[in-house]
Amino acid sequence: MAAASALLMAALAVFAAAAAAALDTSPVPFDAGYAPLFGGDNLVRSADGRSVTLKLDRYTENHDELDFELLGNRRGHGWRVQTNMYGNGSTARGREERYHLPVEPTVAGVHRYAIAWTPNNIVFYLDGVPIREVVRVPSMGGDFPSKPMSVYATIWDGSAWATDGGKYKVDYAYAPFAAEFSDLVLSGCDASSVADPEGCQVDLLTHDVAVMAPSKRAAMRGFREQYLTYTACRDRVRYKTTVFPECDDLANGDSSFHLWGESKKKRRRSSSPLQYSSSMQ
Ligand SMILES: *[C@@H]1O[C@H](CO)[C@@H](O)[C@H](O)[C@H]1NC(C)=O
Repeated sequence: MAAASALLMAALAVFAAAAAAALDTSPVPFDAGYAPLFGGDNLVRSADGRSVTLKLDRYTENHDELDFELLGNRRGHGWRVQTNMYGNGSTARGREERYHLPVEPTVAGVHRYAIAWTPNNIVFYLDGVPIREVVRVPSMGGDFPSKPMSVYATIWDGSAWATDGGKYKVDYAYAPFAAEFSDLVLSGCDASSVADPEGCQVDLLTHDVAVMAPSKRAAMRGFREQYLTYTACRDRVRYKTTVFPECDDLANGDSSFHLWGESKKKRRRSSSPLQYSSSMQ
């Protein structure tokens, strides 16, 4: 019995020695071997790269966000698309707008979704047509996005709210669902560059995508007349006391919207391409 167990010990020892010889057990520096996925300032590496400190505190929500969100559809019904913005963590004040999508995103080829973000305004474009402009007014304060941003594309399950307010859930019998992204264009002022930030901003402010010429305003009005189905600006149920200072179109009368911000108009669904002047790209 004793002899058998000694043999086993010896075998294990030999195995361990062989493993130690095969593996490089020297530490991998944090900047060479690891990439932080999230955590921001709560993840701090030591100067020599040998250790990392993770800090726990109360989460301060201060992020900025501009969105295009395709809200899916149910069989036989058109798609809806939503735009939204948050600034400095203003997630309690969602500025959502929803529209009938005048195109079928799954079959009618590639569509272009664009956002022009300048210090003075934000313009959302669908296939070259401006569909929403948020003009910055001083009383918006930090609600107007002003931090360096990056582009983030994803697909997620919004069953709790997206399709008819959460009435229709994702049916995973049809999974996997796919969102295809191509031809990403990103241009503007590089947040990490200190070279000529003013010059860059002037270029941005005077760029075609940021300047709302009268013809573009007309195209935007036309789109909104036809396709806007909801705007937080008119939602007196969700926002009993909150006033959005940039909502300057209330003079046009609230009577075409329900108290909860939904348009009373029967909006048109159309598969015809959007109309816009060739000068607008
Ligand atoms: C952003 O929000 C924080 C509080 O969450 C506040 O202290 C700060 O002043 C805000 N920044 C701006 C630019 O409004």
